[in-house]
Amino acid sequence: MPCTIEPLKHPDLEALALLWRRSREGAQPWLELRMGYTPAEDLSFLRNVVAQECDMWVAREGPTLLGFLALAGEKIEQLYVDPLAQGTGVGTALLDRARQLSPTRLTLFTHLGNSGARAFYERRDFHAVAFGTSPPPESEPDVTYVREP
Ligand SMILES: CC(C)(COP(=O)(O)OP(=O)(O)OC[C@H]1O[C@@H](n2cnc3c(N)ncnc32)[C@H](O)[C@@H]1OP(=O)(O)O)[C@@H](O)C(=O)NCCC(=O)NCCS
Repeated sequence: MPCTIEPLKHPDLEALALLWRRSREGAQPWLELRMGYTPAEDLSFLRNVVAQECDMWVAREGPTLLGFLALAGEKIEQLYVDPLAQGTGVGTALLDRARQLSPTRLTLFTHLGNSGARAFYERRDFHAVAFGTSPPPESEPDVTYVREP
């Protein structure tokens, strides 16, 4: 899918929060059910935590948001693509932007049970370097990935 990668504009945050929820629910429905975050909590977290601490980039096709990247230095904090746009190169385009911004090293956490994301990163030169547990209240088995060309 042809898309552009652009810096986040804050008016996009509401639509992005809905996309984020759809993408999370598609990848790990059991976890979303257990956590029970509300749409208002999603928006608040994106606006008051992620957007404050990270550089955020969105993928879009015309006016339609397709996905986003939140990068804090060399750490990918968030990489989410709308389920309707997955498998069309949007995640790779966002990851390419992260590689441009941090060419020597990238790192991220993902859940052990997120097999789709793990396969995506492993096919793109990320290596699992540690296994642990995400902070409460999630407390899910997780894995740390590093990419060092
Ligand atoms: C993981 C994720 C970011 C990848 O983004 P994407 O836009 O689907 O990635 P791409 O289209 O660039 O590549 C997807 C790969 O899956 C394949 N694929 C094909 N059809 C697909 C489909 N319908 N859905 C997903 N992947 C598909 C692609 O061919 C490609 O294979 P490759 O790795 O061998 O190249 C995205 O699937 C996503 O948002 N997942 C849910 C949220 C998530 O888990 N985020 C990561 C948290 S750490």
